[in-house]
Amino acid sequence: MPNPNMRSAVTKVLVFVNLSKIPGPRGYDYLVRFNRFFKTDILGAFTQVHVEYGAIASFPWPMNSVIIYSPEFVRKVLQEEGKKYIKGEQIEELRAVVGNGLATNNDQKSWLKSRSIISKEFGPKAVQEFTQAFERITCEYLAGWEKGPKEIDLVEEMKFLAFKIGCETLLKADLGKEDSRKVNEAVDFTSHAVYERIFQFLPIPYSWPTSKNKKFNLHYNNLNSLVMKLIKDEQSAGKKEKPVSVLEKLVHAVDDETGTGLSDDELRDEVLTMLLAGHETSAHSLIWIMGLLARHQDIQQKLFESSDSDYLKLVILEGMRLYPAFPVLSRKAAEDVTLGPYSIPKNTNVVIPIFVMQRDGAYWENPLEFRPERFAAAEQEKSGAFLPFSRGTRKCVAELFAMAEIFIIVKQIISKYHLELVEAELPAAQASVTLKPVAPVRVRISERSLIGLNSFKST
Ligand code: HEM
Repeated sequence: MPNPNMRSAVTKVLVFVNLSKIPGPRGYDYLVRFNRFFKTDILGAFTQVHVEYGAIASFPWPMNSVIIYSPEFVRKVLQEEGKKYIKGEQIEELRAVVGNGLATNNDQKSWLKSRSIISKEFGPKAVQEFTQAFERITCEYLAGWEKGPKEIDLVEEMKFLAFKIGCETLLKADLGKEDSRKVNEAVDFTSHAVYERIFQFLPIPYSWPTSKNKKFNLHYNNLNSLVMKLIKDEQSAGKKEKPVSVLEKLVHAVDDETGTGLSDDELRDEVLTMLLAGHETSAHSLIWIMGLLARHQDIQQKLFESSDSDYLKLVILEGMRLYPAFPVLSRKAAEDVTLGPYSIPKNTNVVIPIFVMQRDGAYWENPLEFRPERFAAAEQEKSGAFLPFSRGTRKCVAELFAMAEIFIIVKQIISKYHLELVEAELPAAQASVTLKPVAPVRVRISERSLIGLNSFKST
């Protein structure tokens, strides 16, 4: 596998000269202080860079990056001049896992074909058809939570539920608890390894037999063979009159524009992408949203009592503001561009730490407080400082799907169970492609019908 960080020396020098003109840490601060900071606490380091340098900071060679923090710059990069950028260099590392699927594809022509085929499966009509499955799977799953007070780990539970929904609606496969656990482990391990590599100057090629690489390859091969098996099963089952899962539809889908479908390799990459993108992101959003509700009893009670769905939407948006599933987005300049007064040379990585922006006091009042009401003003949702699903042509293809899924799960859980955090506070968050809690999120759950009965008895 070619090392993605090897670029021509000349390009590096040119990029270095231009990037050095933009403020940012230099010398000891860059090579030692921030280097160490990024290795131990990525989110803390991104926050500190913003505190010290404001809207933009450069990290010339060896990172060849600028980090941007202002909605104007972000709008320019993702939307207004989106065509001048490709996905960030970090995507090269992700590509080792998900191949050239939609999320990692930098070839405009083949990306457009895939995007046009795949986005049909996540439009309003398609999502509407999925909602019954979301309801049913969630209902069945919650029936497995034993009656009476009990302690659960939201991380385990939400990952498994999201994975179950993902398997059935995207792939139409009932993998069972053991296989699901294996895939969960594989996804966890590979995504963590990928994220570590993103911050290494010269990551060790996957082909070298280090113990980490061996483990990585084992997990990767597990994922790969599982996905290939699902595709082959679907292909041999033939075209169905009423396909229900995204995979069934994709196997036989044809792009209106080109009249061609997806090859086996394209299918594998897209399915692997959906499996990873659809599982980790929804699961972690759910972990944080449910954790926040367990931590904030007043908001949980208000949500339980509210008869319409408006308040639930505010809760979800606020949860995603504090804990965006992808805390950092990245692009790479495909040509020379400008940001404000600065020239950004071709090949510069442009890093967008949305986690920091969504908690920035310049755009949010009391930014660290969980206050769903702040989204009652529609401008907040549309504001340039809120982008959990990203913006522009590369924004999440499955935003509607994910919102509907999260909506249904949170609604069902809160209507049936009361949740209370076991610890006083939620665990800290760490960035590992998706935003994860550093420890289990343990909550005590009790069935609301039983609480009602008990309180009736005690009066
Ligand atoms: C809460 C759940 C989710 C969140 C917060 C989320 C967030 C995102 C974000 C931020 C991006 C864009 C990244 C960038 O601009 O570089 C993205 C892209 C993408 N997401 Fe999601 N996502 C979620 C759920 C899902 C689900 C359920 C699926 C699939 C079933 C999915 C599939 C994808 C794909 C394929 C892309 C790449 C789109 C492209 O580049 O054309 N996502 N997602």
